[in-house]
Amino acid sequence: MSINQGLLDALRPAARLAPASGIVEMVNHGLEREGLIPLWAGEGDLPTPKFIRNAAVASLGAGETFYTYQRGIPLLRRAISDYMTRLYGDAFPFEPERFFVTGSGMQAIQIAVASVAGPGSSVLVPTPTWPNFPAAAELSGAEVITVLMAFEDGRWQLDIDTLFDAARPDTKAVFINSPGNPTGWTASDEELQKILSRARRQGLWIIADEIYARFYYGAANDGFRADSFHDLAEPDDRILYVNTLSKNWAMTGWRIGWIEAPPVLGTVIENLIQYSTSGVATFIQKAAVTALNDGDDFITEQVARARAGRDVVTEALSKLPQVQVSPPEGAFYYFFAVDGVEDSRKLGFEMIDQAGIGLAPGTAFGPGGEAFMRLCFIRQAASLREAMDRLVKMLG
Ligand SMILES: Cc1ncc(COP(=O)(O)O)c(C=O)c1O
Repeated sequence: MSINQGLLDALRPAARLAPASGIVEMVNHGLEREGLIPLWAGEGDLPTPKFIRNAAVASLGAGETFYTYQRGIPLLRRAISDYMTRLYGDAFPFEPERFFVTGSGMQAIQIAVASVAGPGSSVLVPTPTWPNFPAAAELSGAEVITVLMAFEDGRWQLDIDTLFDAARPDTKAVFINSPGNPTGWTASDEELQKILSRARRQGLWIIADEIYARFYYGAANDGFRADSFHDLAEPDDRILYVNTLSKNWAMTGWRIGWIEAPPVLGTVIENLIQYSTSGVATFIQKAAVTALNDGDDFITEQVARARAGRDVVTEALSKLPQVQVSPPEGAFYYFFAVDGVEDSRKLGFEMIDQAGIGLAPGTAFGPGGEAFMRLCFIRQAASLREAMDRLVKMLG
């Protein structure tokens, strides 16, 4: 046995076996290509607006460089509570004590799953899915039970009974991502109610990922946002909501998000933050306060950009008879299959090499996505048009 193999074998299996990201593989292959248009990542092409960046600069200028509250600075917890009230109304009591600032939506997920599942337990995950949730669950020692969504008439559907029937006695939680990455699946009020009822009946936690709530193209809530568990649930239901500043405010590189939970869990969540990152830098939190308090107009711009991008892709894909997909109802991804193509990983490399566009292969999103490609459309329309011309030329 080589020394290197010995080192690897000496690791904890859950760490050693954590899956490599199927998106990173594409990025590594294509990032340096001149003129490549990247549509593989879950972010747009706009940097964080200046007024948000300035708030971080001012905080640094003021020397705010010390350890800070594990739960987040009070100003930010208040700003989150105000933002959530603007978004969901005041029927739900969004007091600041419900919110815990984390170093990204990803860390919110990691803490949420580590709070409720570990060795000897399992979690339910509908797939295709954003792969980081199941990976975080496996890292915490839990087993992941995947339940396939169905692709019918160009749309992804989730059979809620099938999902909950897959639970075992050791199942602790179910991951619900609506609007969904990569599928665009967006739960209706009735579906959310059914999920909530079954989760209550079976004593399961819901890990609710509604980070794309504003990227919604349907008719509910006057198109302002997708339906939410907040519309139906009690404040002390077993729901851990994860959220992020990344998408609404174009802050993917800052690494800040939050968990929303019944306040009684506060000490537990505070401890898990203490023993992982020990809190988020104050200057980043100050930028987040500005984003939340003053960033509503910017969100409107972001959503308009995504909506226009969605139209560009819809029109281009309609020219390809071998692609049958309906426009997604939420989030900012098209997830489509090409007739006759089984291996999306291979197609991903070909798109980079032959067409100069970078997409994420469906193999990166768990069972059910193998034949699909994910395309992120929150991007300046002219660049997206160019990307779609190249795609249509390559596949047409
Ligand atoms: C469904 C979903 N949840 C959570 C996240 C986490 O975002 P971040 O870690 O940037 O806050 C992402 C990012 O792509 C996502 O797509």
